[in-house]
Amino acid sequence: MEGARKIEDLIYYQVSEYKMRHGEGIHLYDADGRAYIDCASGTFNLSLGYGHPEIVKAMREQADLLVHATSTFRTEPVDRLVRRLVAVSPPNLTRVHLKVSGGATANEGAVKMAQVRTGRREVITLFRSHHGQTVLTTAMSGEAFRRAPFPTLVAGITHVPDPYCLRCFYRQSPDSCGLLCAERINDFIDHASSGSVACIVVEPVSGSGGNIVPPDGYLAALRRICDERGIVLVFDEVQTGIGRTGHMFAADHFGVRPDIITTAKGLGGSGAQVAAILTSEELAGLDGEYHSFTYGGNVLAAAAADKTLEIVSRPEFLAHVRAVGAHLMERLRDLATRYPRIGDVRGLGLMIGLELVDRDGRPDTPLTLHLAHRGMDHGLILRTSRYGRGNVLKIRPPLVITTEEADLLCDRLETLFAAEAT
Ligand SMILES: Cc1ncc(COP(=O)(O)O)c(C=O)c1O
Repeated sequence: MEGARKIEDLIYYQVSEYKMRHGEGIHLYDADGRAYIDCASGTFNLSLGYGHPEIVKAMREQADLLVHATSTFRTEPVDRLVRRLVAVSPPNLTRVHLKVSGGATANEGAVKMAQVRTGRREVITLFRSHHGQTVLTTAMSGEAFRRAPFPTLVAGITHVPDPYCLRCFYRQSPDSCGLLCAERINDFIDHASSGSVACIVVEPVSGSGGNIVPPDGYLAALRRICDERGIVLVFDEVQTGIGRTGHMFAADHFGVRPDIITTAKGLGGSGAQVAAILTSEELAGLDGEYHSFTYGGNVLAAAAADKTLEIVSRPEFLAHVRAVGAHLMERLRDLATRYPRIGDVRGLGLMIGLELVDRDGRPDTPLTLHLAHRGMDHGLILRTSRYGRGNVLKIRPPLVITTEEADLLCDRLETLFAAEAT
């Protein structure tokens, strides 16, 4: 009888001591009714917050009709979602692949498409990147600790330095570096890869790696290198997509057109499991049987995603994200003037990172973890970069956060810093 054993001994992975019961907007409530502002939007996926009423209604109505049909059949929600995804994507992305189960399998599909299109094998990704946790995407992600336990890795992935200006790999400064971090990719292709590079996969703003916003011109330089060498440029917008940066996609903000965008997380609005690969016509050509997952194109999730896109497409919605994001950024920069342990405040829209440093300006991961832990006592759910191995607190509340709620979040952060990080 399993009832006698503690739940912690039955669940394979570690769970926190907090037991949550319900959520509404930016708040998650525990079993005792205590409210926490979720600064991480769940796993950065609740773009519209907990239980958005329009999403819940769309899912309820769809559940009454049809929860699932195999994705070879057409259904109304999937038809609507496909049309809407094409309408909101950069104009060169006109094809939608929905038969994926999340961000990782979307990224794997993008790699397969690039391989089929180019006839080449290899992949280039950035230091500190995170692209998922399947075997291929574990190998693609730019962190040694994620790969460390596994004896078998996928060959043919070259990791290159990321555009982290604050701690530049090449010890340069952004005003005079000539974008070495982009230009040197040519050397990596010529000397570190086999030369058979199918695609470069990049998060336009690093999500897990530390909320690193690339300098002006970086993504455009990647576009040029890809064009010169016939390489497919993939933007992993699993975190940056669906309004997070104040634009539907970060590609719109940077004015760079990738050949493929992968999207997941925020597409589900209030937590529906849905993901997509958006491609140009030239990338169409991977037959259905080569990349297809049972819950891809799920009808219930499609109803949620379609409604999410409808809401995020409303003209006032992205303006709201930009305005609240700017307000939050201003308040956090102000906070940094009083608390020198905040070494950098950076981000776009509602995707913000606070980099924490010790008294000598070096990354302070223990302090970052401590603050995230103690945040719960102050009614804040905080997550850190690089699965607790990094020194960045991620401030990415649901996009529906109001200015007053953003102020409350900052007030609580100030109390937390005053108590724990002077
Ligand atoms: C940028 C990025 N890509 C891909 C993934 C993987 O997505 P999923 O967990 O849905 O497979 C994540 C998840 O954290 C992510 O942050």
